[in-house]
Amino acid sequence: MLSSVRICLPSTTLRASLCHGCRGGAPVRGMGWSPRLVTQCKCEISADPSSDNPRVLITDMGGIDIKKPPLEVFNSGPFVYADVLDYKNLRELVVNNRITWLVHYSALLSAVGEANVTLARTINITGLHNVLDLALENCLRLFVPSTIGAFGPSSPRDPAPDLCVQRPRTIYGVSKVHGELMGEYLHHKYGLDFRCLRYPGVISANTKPGGGTTDYAVQIFHDALSTGHHECYLRPDTRLPMMHIADCHRATVEFMQAPECQLSLRTYNIAAMSFTPEEVADEIRKHLPQLKVTYNPDAVRQTIADSWPVRFDDSNARRDWGWQPAYGLPELVTDMLCSIREKRRNSGLPVR
Ligand SMILES: NC(=O)c1ccc[n+]([C@@H]2O[C@H](COP(=O)([O-])OP(=O)(O)OC[C@H]3O[C@@H](n4cnc5c(N)ncnc54)[C@H](O)[C@@H]3O)[C@@H](O)[C@H]2O)c1
Repeated sequence: MLSSVRICLPSTTLRASLCHGCRGGAPVRGMGWSPRLVTQCKCEISADPSSDNPRVLITDMGGIDIKKPPLEVFNSGPFVYADVLDYKNLRELVVNNRITWLVHYSALLSAVGEANVTLARTINITGLHNVLDLALENCLRLFVPSTIGAFGPSSPRDPAPDLCVQRPRTIYGVSKVHGELMGEYLHHKYGLDFRCLRYPGVISANTKPGGGTTDYAVQIFHDALSTGHHECYLRPDTRLPMMHIADCHRATVEFMQAPECQLSLRTYNIAAMSFTPEEVADEIRKHLPQLKVTYNPDAVRQTIADSWPVRFDDSNARRDWGWQPAYGLPELVTDMLCSIREKRRNSGLPVR
């Protein structure tokens, strides 16, 4: 499968301490987990976190199919199509563009993954190994998102702390726990600057839901402004952690910019709010009183949701690098309705 890879050249908004001190030591040969040579990376902390401009490669900013990127993505930096399973091509992109940070978003999400376990395993695990190898070889700062799906029914659910039992029951969750552990292992063993945030369900007006269990919380806004009716695949009382996309982006940038000495962990929970379908519908009705919501729980997604945390404990992120969300449920609903309404108007679509 081909997909999109975006390269962000030096930006004024993304400035951070970079990995200056990579001691390009002797390659580590014959490692069990990868046939490739891996350059040992011992990174030192830059004295001034704003001293350099990172050159950022973001895997996947497009859709799940082969398609043109949205214009704003295309215009905001060099954009190429690439497959995260094609290691040689990824390496060329990193080397030729002198990349210093890699943000790895490509993945198959929970519900889609359960429908295609083999593909999810390949993309989420083999693709991740390609990215880990590249980051290690090129001394990159590497960000990989994890998820509430990295927890399972035996994890504490209210709240889920950073460190606890993680026995997820989806291939998505298993691959994300694998990513957390591989990244932390390579950090401790070789000094890889691996950084991982466990995102809640991310809510954005700009992207279509990608096959996750929290998709309803995006779709309900589109339905509220188009047909006025949303059929929810979860029970009305299913509580899950959620976050506005602006908070998610800001958390990622702030975490990537944080000096290494501030990080007591390499994988952090981040939280903003937790709500149920019933609660978000009630909040939308404050703007659109006619919204009708019916419930038709889907066995696969309901089982997944029932195994996930209802709340995240993100106290370590708040303490270590100052994480603080800006959006609660009322702000999220107001912003989503406003943004989607404007998009529909601009596309000539009717608006409620
Ligand atoms: N959306 C959420 O609520 C949420 C929550 C927690 C974590 N995350 C994580 O954030 C990341 C992005 O999620 P998203 O919601 O944008 O998902 P998405 O499904 O919209 O995007 C994933 C992308 O991966 C790409 N992809 C698939 N196979 C690929 C390949 N071989 N090479 C390159 N790209 C390939 C697809 O094109 C797709 O666009 C994922 O790693 C996901 O686990 C998302």
